[in-house]
Amino acid sequence: MPAVSAYAPGKIILFGEHAVVYNRPAIAVPVFQVKARAEVTPSLKAVPGGIRIIAPQIDIDNDLTSLGDDHPLSITIEALRAHWGGVRLPAINLRITSTIPIAAGLGSSAAVTVAVIRAVSRFVKRELSEDEISQLAFKVEQHQHGNPSGIDNTVVTYQKPVVFQRGQPLKILTVPEPFTLIIGDTGVQSATSEAVAGVRTRWQEEPSRYEGLFDRIGEIGNHAREILLNGPVTELGPLMTKNHQLLKEIGVSSPELDRLVNAALSTGALGAKLSGGGCGGNMIALATADQAAAIEAALKHAGAVRTWMTTISETMRER
Ligand code: PMV
Repeated sequence: MPAVSAYAPGKIILFGEHAVVYNRPAIAVPVFQVKARAEVTPSLKAVPGGIRIIAPQIDIDNDLTSLGDDHPLSITIEALRAHWGGVRLPAINLRITSTIPIAAGLGSSAAVTVAVIRAVSRFVKRELSEDEISQLAFKVEQHQHGNPSGIDNTVVTYQKPVVFQRGQPLKILTVPEPFTLIIGDTGVQSATSEAVAGVRTRWQEEPSRYEGLFDRIGEIGNHAREILLNGPVTELGPLMTKNHQLLKEIGVSSPELDRLVNAALSTGALGAKLSGGGCGGNMIALATADQAAAIEAALKHAGAVRTWMTTISETMRER
């Protein structure tokens, strides 16, 4: 059997992180500048079902069984086998590489899972629908993150801008007016599960205050969706900055994130906010084409260890 490979992009959350866990709407877009890739080749030596994992960036070159049942890759393979009624997979080598920073709010874990699911299912010629892939990846996310909303696996699987709300049908958006975002990485790793758990503790202590903050974030998300559909996209900027203030209030910003947000704003960004779990990780800034390079430089000057420029550009319509 020939080698088969698949990839999945990173993602950013434009609006609504954390509040989305509490059933408010959120908007996320794929980021194709960073990717996870999985490649499956047949293994001639191993016994059927034997899976060798090669992931040089995290120093793994070993049998899947050596990683233990709780490892996300073991959970991914087990979820696939269960989905196919417990089939035994052929002996394979599974090589995983990724340019998505880990624990940085760019959807690294969901992207690795989705790339692996796609590559293995193609290799065994049991292609899955987008919905099946997203659901399987969600199961793996649940194991890793406790109580994920499902937004990461969704945007990374569909590779389109999405409006996501728990319990509501997924809305895929196509963008009528392109816009440019600069992503700035604080370089501070932060586990999403811990940020989400911290918010939960504070929400339990002060439920009505937190429900009020989530409501305001949800309203911003609804307003942003209208702007994404009808323009002008420049109006997204102030909404991003407001969303950042609310994320600060729920306790998930950090000095490094605030410094990058302020640097972007004082260099003329139309708006800026943290993106993803927060407490570290990445922020995003909305830039006009002629400011983008200056904003990137300002972010680096303010301590960003990496930056990416990404343009969201399709015709945005719900379907
Ligand atoms: O840190 P990330 O990229 O995994 O983003 C998580 C987004 C949250 O809303 C904080 C959690 C979730 O499950 O939706």
